[in-house]
Amino acid sequence: MNAPFVSPIKELLDDLHARLTDRRDGEVATYIPELGKADPEWLGLAVATLDGTLYEAGDTDVPFTIQSVSKPFVYALALQDRGLEDVLKCVGVEPTGDAFNAVRLEPVSGRPYNPMVNSGAIVTSTLVGGANQEERRGRILSGLSAFAGRALEVDGKVLSSESATGDRNRALAYLMHGAGVLTCPVEDALALYFEQCAALVTTRDLAVMTATLAGGGVNPLTGETVVSVEAAANALTVMATCGTYDYAGEWLVRAGLPAKSGVSGGLIAALPSQLGLGAFSPRLDARGNSVRAVAACEELSTRFGLHLM
Ligand code: DON
Repeated sequence: MNAPFVSPIKELLDDLHARLTDRRDGEVATYIPELGKADPEWLGLAVATLDGTLYEAGDTDVPFTIQSVSKPFVYALALQDRGLEDVLKCVGVEPTGDAFNAVRLEPVSGRPYNPMVNSGAIVTSTLVGGANQEERRGRILSGLSAFAGRALEVDGKVLSSESATGDRNRALAYLMHGAGVLTCPVEDALALYFEQCAALVTTRDLAVMTATLAGGGVNPLTGETVVSVEAAANALTVMATCGTYDYAGEWLVRAGLPAKSGVSGGLIAALPSQLGLGAFSPRLDARGNSVRAVAACEELSTRFGLHLM
C-alpha cells in the first residue's frame, strides 16, 4: 500500500518545528510587562497559499498580541483610505538601520522615516479612514479582522500594560506633534496605535493575513477584497526594506522575502502571488526579532528557493 501523500511544505514545517524546539537562545520581551507572561517554549509555524490551503506545525492556535506585525496591515489600510501621496506627506518609506523604537525623525520635516518603526506606525494609525477617533478605532480592528478572515479581539491587559509603560512612544508622538506631522491629540494617536498592537492573533491568522497581502489584497479564505492591489504591493515593498529594522538588509540577503517582525515573537514573510508565512515564538534576539521564527523562515526560503532576487 502506498504511503499517504504528505505535502513537502507540511513535511518541512514539521521538521523545522521538531528541530527548532531545541533552540533556547533569546529572551521574551518584558519592557511591556504583560508580554513577559508568554511561554518561551511556544513555537507555531503556518503557511497559507493563495488557493486557501493551510499548512501548520506546532502551536498555531495559541493567541498572542500582534504588536509590530500589525504595522504593514494598518499601513495598507491607510494607503487604501488616503492614497499613497497623502500618506507620503506624513510618513516616509526610507529604511533607518535603527532599532524599532529609535528616537529619530527626518531632519527639518520631523516626518518619521517609515511606517514599520514605532514613530511611523503611530502616525499611520491616525491616517486610516474615519470621521472621528471611534470610527478610526473601528476601521483598524475591522480591517485587521478582514485580513485574518475572522473577527479579532483586543487583549485589554496587554493594552493597559503598554499604555502604562509606553513613555518612549509617548515621547515620539509629542516630538511629531510638535513638528506638525501628527495633527490629532497625542493620546488619541497612542490609543489607536496601542490598541492595534494589542489585537490578538494566532500563527494561522498571520499566515492568512500575509497571504492576503501576497494575493494583491484578496483574502484567500473569504474571497474578500480587503485592500487594492497597489496598497498591498506598497505594503510589501516597505516590509522588504524596513520590516526587520536594523536586520532588514541581512534578512533580505538571507531570506529574500518581504517580512515583518514583532516583539511578542511573531514574524510574517510573503512570497508575492504565491503564499504567506506566519511564525511565532516569543524568545527574541537583541534586535527584537524572534530567534526561532527567523531561523524557520530563512530555512524555508532557502529549501524551497523562495528568494526573490
Ligand atoms: O510600540 C511598541 O514598542 C510595541 N507595541 C510594538 C513593538 C514591536 O513589536 C517592534 N518589534 N520588534
